[in-house]
Amino acid sequence: MQTLCAERDYRRHILYHYNRYAYFYDLMEFLRRGTRRKAMLLSDWRPGERILDLCTGTGELALTFAARGASVVGTDIARGMLKRAITKAPALRPNWVEMDATALAFADNSFEISLLSLALHHMPIAVQLRVLRELQRVTTRRIVIIEPYTPANPRLFALWAVVASVIDESEYMHEWVRQDFISTCRTADLNVKAVYDTPLRVHRIILCDPGSKDSGNEIGAVAQPSFELAHHSLPQLVQSEAK
Ligand SMILES: C[S@@+](CC[C@H](N)C(=O)[O-])C[C@H]1O[C@@H](n2cnc3c(N)ncnc32)[C@H](O)[C@@H]1O
Repeated sequence: MQTLCAERDYRRHILYHYNRYAYFYDLMEFLRRGTRRKAMLLSDWRPGERILDLCTGTGELALTFAARGASVVGTDIARGMLKRAITKAPALRPNWVEMDATALAFADNSFEISLLSLALHHMPIAVQLRVLRELQRVTTRRIVIIEPYTPANPRLFALWAVVASVIDESEYMHEWVRQDFISTCRTADLNVKAVYDTPLRVHRIILCDPGSKDSGNEIGAVAQPSFELAHHSLPQLVQSEAK
């Protein structure tokens, strides 16, 4: 019952916030541009591969790929955000679809590459898991997740959550900074291959492959990761990095 209420409240907040403030979202795009370029490189996208940009918002990440010739579908539940996306670069013709990320209307294995940028930290963990499982189901080769950077040192969690909440509208920031996200990915059957911090440590890029599926493709890193994931959880790795 509590979970259902949390999910209802989360959706209400998302729709209220992103439909109302969609017009202002791109004002902070200067902070995200470098991250999007890095995500594009790390995705290892190859011509001909289909891309899903889940929770696409105003479509900037989808358009980064479309500008290089990728066939992209961008989905979101907030119509206000999609309306902003539609006004941009119509010649690139990505497909914009209003859809809840927890129940995707795509067949299994519809996309080679899926992107999920800056959305999970807005969600209760039960919703995150449903979204990640949907990504696992529809993707054959690589999943690229972007989320805000979080510190390694647990003593900084409370302070970080307060500071981050000022610049980020997420209601779940206090939980997000403490979350072992690598474990969340594993619970959703995703294999986390590498985690990269962006310059200035604004964002973190997490590269996964869709777990138990046998796509026959190994992820080859195109840059030095902040830390490689072998047998460690994210907090362990961050702690060892901080030493
Ligand atoms: C912070 S914005 C990020 C937008 C974009 N991905 C980016 O990188 O700029 C979060 C987006 O996630 C969308 N979102 C949140 N929960 C969702 C859900 N369950 N299904 C689809 N979209 C969702 C919101 O509507 C919002 O547009």
